[in-house]
Amino acid sequence: MSFTKVCSVGDIWEGEMEPFTVNGHEILLVGVEGGDIKAFQGICPHQDIALSEGKFDGKKLICRAHLWQFDASNGKGINPDDCALAEYPVKVEGDDVYVQTAGVEALFAHS
Ligand code: FES
Repeated sequence: MSFTKVCSVGDIWEGEMEPFTVNGHEILLVGVEGGDIKAFQGICPHQDIALSEGKFDGKKLICRAHLWQFDASNGKGINPDDCALAEYPVKVEGDDVYVQTAGVEALFAHS
C-alpha cells in the first residue's frame, strides 16, 4: 500500500484543519489537540457539505450545515452518534505528512 505526500507538518497546526484532494479523495487533515495529525473524509456524511467550512476546536469537528459533531480523535459521530467519518491512514516522516487513500471510502449516513 502506498502513501501519498500531502503537505508539511507545519501546514497543520494543533487545532487547525485543512482540506486536500488526494488521488481523487476529498480529505480533511486535522491537527488534534495533543499533537496527532488525522485524516478524515472531507465531506460530511449527512449531505454534500465540506467539513472544512465548519468548525474545529482541536477535539470536535462541527459541520456548518446542520451542526453534526464528530470526535476528531477517531471520526466517530458525537451527535448524532450513529454516523462516522472514514479515516485515512496517516504517516509522518520528517516534515512530511503522507496519507494512504487506497481502500478507504467516504461513509454516508441516514438523512
Ligand atoms: S450536511 Fe453536515 S450536518 Fe448536515
